[in-house]
Amino acid sequence: MKPKKIKDNMFWVGAVDWDRRLFDALIPLPDGTSYNAYLIQGSEKTALLDTVDPSMLTVFESHLKDIKNIDFIISHHSEQDHAGALPYVLEKYKNAKVIATPKGKPMLIDHLHIQEDRIVTVNDGETLSLGNKTLEFIHAPWVHWPETMFTYIREDKIIFTCDLFGSHLATSDIFYNDYWHVCDEAKRYYAEVMMPFRTTIQKHLEKLKKYQIDMIAPSHGPVHRDPECIVRSHQEWVSDKVSNTVVVPYVTMHGSTQLMVERLTEVLSENGIKVEKFNLAVADTGKFAMSLVDAATLVIGSPTVLTGAHPLVVSAAFLANALKPKLKFASIIGSYGWGGRMVEQIKGLLPNLKIEMLEPVVIKGLPKDEDYKALDRLANEIVSRHKTAI
Ligand code: FEO
Repeated sequence: MKPKKIKDNMFWVGAVDWDRRLFDALIPLPDGTSYNAYLIQGSEKTALLDTVDPSMLTVFESHLKDIKNIDFIISHHSEQDHAGALPYVLEKYKNAKVIATPKGKPMLIDHLHIQEDRIVTVNDGETLSLGNKTLEFIHAPWVHWPETMFTYIREDKIIFTCDLFGSHLATSDIFYNDYWHVCDEAKRYYAEVMMPFRTTIQKHLEKLKKYQIDMIAPSHGPVHRDPECIVRSHQEWVSDKVSNTVVVPYVTMHGSTQLMVERLTEVLSENGIKVEKFNLAVADTGKFAMSLVDAATLVIGSPTVLTGAHPLVVSAAFLANALKPKLKFASIIGSYGWGGRMVEQIKGLLPNLKIEMLEPVVIKGLPKDEDYKALDRLANEIVSRHKTAI
């Protein structure tokens, strides 16, 4: 995609990465991503807002080839997908200064070896004039590192929010018409990147209410011309409200755990509860993370492998714990051959979750009638808890 005008004298100059399929060597990117950098030309000064991932430097260079001068580079976030091309920009524009938060400065020095005297720090609420455009910096720690900030342009009522409101989505246009498609991608992004900081994001959303915002320009995915929808979706995701949903990540080796998952799903479903099942041998980690955004309950299903949980279950439990979803209840189901400590092991992997653990159902071998009855009891317990908690 070539540079695109987003407002008068404001241009998208980032890079679209159609082929990237993995982020942080962990997060699936089924629809690629983009690294959004923006050029703001004021009547007196020019600012570049963020850069791109170093892997897309050639594209970025081509977008800046006719830009003779840049006075400021606003670094909202030091992570390499946005700050990684800073060394190139500083080499090309010798007089440019990097604007960052006080916490951002040492991070840029540590991660990218930026020279200290090229960085100017700004406080929360501080402004910078480009002549006819006033940039207001809004500190936004934990979006998604401790050093992050937003930039609001007062005259244009546009806010640049870095990772917040972003989506991993490669498109040929910087704007979009299909909100629900973008919202789905934004939910995946929120789940994987923002969910661990949910209560902090609540505060940031509250803080943004005092600004009149006509457009939101994040650092990944399309720009939001109608910001109300994406803000409302985020307000919903960060709220304490949970949905009538049970998420069931599981692994089965010889079919017993599968049978247990199917019975539990059947009874929950008959009682009006939505079940999102993930066979971890084939599941998309991103979709699993998305399902945790508002689910009320997590039921982990695992066979016993060498006295413990299956390694894929360990990984999923570890991820759920790291993402800190707003779950209220959890349980564990599974089967063993001759014994083991699968339940204790999984419980020990979930210290971050503020959950009530419902009685696990762990059986020997193939499920028998009394095992199915125990699963029915667990399902009915979940139904009853949901009725009071949702
Ligand atoms: Fe898109 Fe936290 O970087």
